[in-house]
Amino acid sequence: MIPEPRPEIGRLVPPEHGGRLALGVSGCGLLDFSTTVHAYGPPARVRDAVAQCNLDEYPDPHAADFCAGLAERFNLPTGLVMAGNGSVELLRLVGLAYIRQRDPVVVVGPTFEEYRMAAEIMGGEVQEIRAQGFGSARPDVQCILDAVRRLRPRVTFLCNPNNPTGTYWDAAEVQALLRACHPGLLVMDGAFQAFVESAWDPLLLVEEGPILLIRSMTKDYAMAGLRLGYAIGAPSIMEPLRRAQTPWGVSAPAQAAGLAALEDREYLQRVMAAVRRDARELVSALRAAGYQPEVGATHFFLLRVEDGRHAAQTLHAQGFLVRLCSSFGLPRHIRISPRRPLENESLVRALSALQTPARAL
Ligand SMILES: Cc1ncc(COP(=O)(O)O)c(C=O)c1O
Repeated sequence: MIPEPRPEIGRLVPPEHGGRLALGVSGCGLLDFSTTVHAYGPPARVRDAVAQCNLDEYPDPHAADFCAGLAERFNLPTGLVMAGNGSVELLRLVGLAYIRQRDPVVVVGPTFEEYRMAAEIMGGEVQEIRAQGFGSARPDVQCILDAVRRLRPRVTFLCNPNNPTGTYWDAAEVQALLRACHPGLLVMDGAFQAFVESAWDPLLLVEEGPILLIRSMTKDYAMAGLRLGYAIGAPSIMEPLRRAQTPWGVSAPAQAAGLAALEDREYLQRVMAAVRRDARELVSALRAAGYQPEVGATHFFLLRVEDGRHAAQTLHAQGFLVRLCSSFGLPRHIRISPRRPLENESLVRALSALQTPARAL
């Protein structure tokens, strides 16, 4: 006999993720449009920093140098910043530190499934608020405010800009949400903020109420393999997360890489400009091919096809991975993240050749 796991664990439905390895796809030569990590790779100095990193002692459990680098970048006191083993660790810590059994938790959907996980693993009761009917449309802001006032969630998760739809709430909308959530915690995941052409500064909200901002070095600097994310918030909000965090959870290579990435001052601007240009060109080419990409503020976008699974399988057979969206409740969509220009052109050729059942409606 072995002990039963906690019932919450037994009930968990594992989230789905894009990316070749998460999809269980092996073999080289595949072009991966299913992951949201951009295709330009990390700054060269990140690889040097990792190679030179000291591996024979424990890393700094507080990742103090990396946090100091972030604090300097954002002109913040260091106590407002903490590092995590990917932003996903920070989301799980929110659950661990704040969500109790049967606590109401609001998730604005369709969205990244790790918010649901962070809540359900602790026994929280998730209400996903999403647009009426079938589709990728963003829910009406007023509906969400009303739902939050009614449900009084302990934690509300907002992915801004959102994965997979790219919808982007403006500062006034998030401010209204923060007020509606009060005294509950609003967690705003800005993993894709750097991809937005004219993003507003969410740091403005840190003093306005209980909000925690989550960011991902993975997405900004294309260093998914290292696992590094960070949170920004009032010290009183972060303290419980710090207490619950695994010691040495952020590895020495990840800390060194993060510092090196921050030191490359012009990388983000240069690479994000290229990623946005590639996305624009890919979208225009798909429109010219008769598709109607559903474009938001991010580089990735949704493409409505008649049958997402059929389209994804057909493309896979030709060497292209795209993200099936059934796990977001969007079985008629695929999500595409642009790669480099020539690779994007080859995807457009493959999509152009898809026969009517998988073609845009
Ligand atoms: C919205 C969002 N937040 C966070 C993450 C996880 O990022 P990290 O690699 O920093 O854990 C992802 C990954 O796809 C994501 O889509």
